[in-house]
Amino acid sequence: MAAAVPHHTLLSFPKVLLFPLLLLVFGPVSSTMDYSEKELLFSIMDAMSSDRDWRSYSKPDPCNPSSSWPGLECKLGPDAHFHVTKLVFGTLPNPTCGSSATFPSQIFSLSFLQSAHFLNCFNTRRTALFFPRPHASLQQLSLRGNPALFGSIPPQISSLKSLQVLTLSQNRLHGEIPESISLLSSLIHVDLSYNSLTGTIPAKIWNLRSLVDLDLSFNALAGAIPASIGELGLLQKLDLSSNALAGSIPQSVGKLKFLTFLALSDNKLTGYPNPAAGLANLQNLQYLIMDSNPMFSPLPPELGRLQRLQELKLSNSGYSGKIPGSFTGLRNLTALSLENNHLSGEIPPGLGELSRIYHLNLSRNMLGGVVPFSADFLRRLGRNLDLSGNSGLCFNGGSLVSGEIFCGVGLCGSTKPSSSSSSSSSSNVRQPLASSSVMLLYYSSIFESPALYWAFGYVGFNAVFFYLCLLL
Ligand SMILES: *[C@@H]1O[C@H](CO)[C@@H](O)[C@H](O)[C@H]1NC(C)=O
Ligand SMILES: *[C@@H]1O[C@H](CO)[C@@H](O)[C@H](O)[C@H]1NC(C)=O
Repeated sequence: MAAAVPHHTLLSFPKVLLFPLLLLVFGPVSSTMDYSEKELLFSIMDAMSSDRDWRSYSKPDPCNPSSSWPGLECKLGPDAHFHVTKLVFGTLPNPTCGSSATFPSQIFSLSFLQSAHFLNCFNTRRTALFFPRPHASLQQLSLRGNPALFGSIPPQISSLKSLQVLTLSQNRLHGEIPESISLLSSLIHVDLSYNSLTGTIPAKIWNLRSLVDLDLSFNALAGAIPASIGELGLLQKLDLSSNALAGSIPQSVGKLKFLTFLALSDNKLTGYPNPAAGLANLQNLQYLIMDSNPMFSPLPPELGRLQRLQELKLSNSGYSGKIPGSFTGLRNLTALSLENNHLSGEIPPGLGELSRIYHLNLSRNMLGGVVPFSADFLRRLGRNLDLSGNSGLCFNGGSLVSGEIFCGVGLCGSTKPSSSSSSSSSSNVRQPLASSSVMLLYYSSIFESPALYWAFGYVGFNAVFFYLCLLL
């Protein structure tokens, strides 16, 4: 071995000298990679992907602009060498991962690496995350859709000190979110969704002051939402849906003044002591998605102050009492889901005046009285309106249509729909509809021109009407 070293040095010495010399002679100087970095890159590539023979596909070296390796980016370092700054695996045109590929922790020896992506890469052989040494340059680590990526998130993740983007979505990760993640104070975007993470949300999350996006949805996180989440003052998107989070929404959420998207569906959040907590302060909120929680409280009228709201989803949560009249002030609302609660009283007429709404589900409540919607409104929403399963609701025949049933809701004064299921209401629609002049007006508005209406005739009308209701 001792003899081999000088031998090797002797052989390679002239080459080492010659190469820069050639560059000098033949002008525009093109930089090269550091030898050991190049070897490291080759060994990573050979282990990860058999798409091609990486060594022969890399003349003069992979970082050279003329070689244009897929999935590889390099930058010129202060030492005038090219260094690997970005590696992307798993989707064409990037290198696809072989069946024996495992998480290549050698990438953390590429000391200039800023960004590493593995999408749909580890599919066959079980592998786990491993952070063997601190890394000061890595800003983006993204592993998404890797069904063979098991194990937990090692606490050593905190040694990736410059990390800004951490995506570990749709893998098979379990165990707890390490508390040490809160040391990564440069994090801007964190997505750990669709794994099997357990335990609680780290209380020290307030350390992540730069966080703009936090997605922990579709895991098995339990415990309360930590009040410290309110310290994430730059947060714009927070998705904690489909976990087992319990307790009430902390008042401090109201401090997240840049929040535009909040999803808390499918948890065990309760409405006691205050179902709205600080939510009414979120003046930039556009999406409030909070279906399927055991809230068991009245609907908070304060939500009507969220002027920017486009989607408000509060279904299946045990809400009782009336639909607050304040909801009719949500002028930008496009979707409102309040189905499957215990709401009673009448539908506020103002809901029918929300000009952008295209989805309204009030089904399976205990609403009553006359449906206050115009024919125009009904036509605009079409199958996206669901009023079924409210035995006290009825249509005023004089103002709308004649007939037994309209899409799950009966005419006032006639027999009520027997059940909430839409199949039974559809079959009721098959019954002949009596004609009236109002009905004719309505039909002709469907057909736009009276001539068309007369051409289709009564049978045609019935078919169209039936079709509309079937869609509902
Ligand atoms: C409503 O939506 C429009 C168009 O998207 C937007 O310009 C306007 O600012 C929104 N209004 C509020 C109060 O957010
Ligand atoms: C309304 O909600 C019910 C659940 O209660 C669902 O079955 C139905 O498909 C929804 N309707 C629309 C139009 O989305």
